[in-house]
Amino acid sequence: MTLDEEHGVNKTRILVVCLGNICRSPMAEGIFLDRVRRRGWSDRVAIDSAGTAAYHAGEPPDPRTLAELGRHGIALDCRARQVQDDDFERFDWILAMDSSNFDRLRQRCPAERRDRVAMMLEPVGGGDVADPYYGGLDGFARNFQQLDRAVDAWLDRIQASATP
Ligand code: 4NP
Repeated sequence: MTLDEEHGVNKTRILVVCLGNICRSPMAEGIFLDRVRRRGWSDRVAIDSAGTAAYHAGEPPDPRTLAELGRHGIALDCRARQVQDDDFERFDWILAMDSSNFDRLRQRCPAERRDRVAMMLEPVGGGDVADPYYGGLDGFARNFQQLDRAVDAWLDRIQASATP
């Protein structure tokens, strides 16, 4: 946890990362924001998303991601951005959607910060959140199911490690 100077509270900052920041990581961001709100933790946990690539920088999420989130009652307003060097300083956890994202993040991350980079699905058995971009809607539905479980597991872990 880092001290949030503006609000004077200890806040855990989580960055979720995929390749383009238009499909999987915005979906993870939307689910995290929703679950954090439901737990009443909006002043304790901050969420952002980014891509290892800049192909879609400035664009809104893929319509299929927004539709899948919408099916679950979740609205999201964000724009794609690429991972920046200072993200490794600003965030307590940097969660990669697949092993390719993970490898790129670990290469780019300063050595002393490398333990902040983890796989998104690590607390639910590991593996990749598969890239859905060139596939059908079923890929997005599967992404949602995986991410929903993983988000709850990460929030439980953060709760368990929180100092009273
Ligand atoms: P994401 O999906 O990494 O989950 O946002 C992709 C989005 C765009 C591309 C690949 C994956 N692309 O090649 O443009």
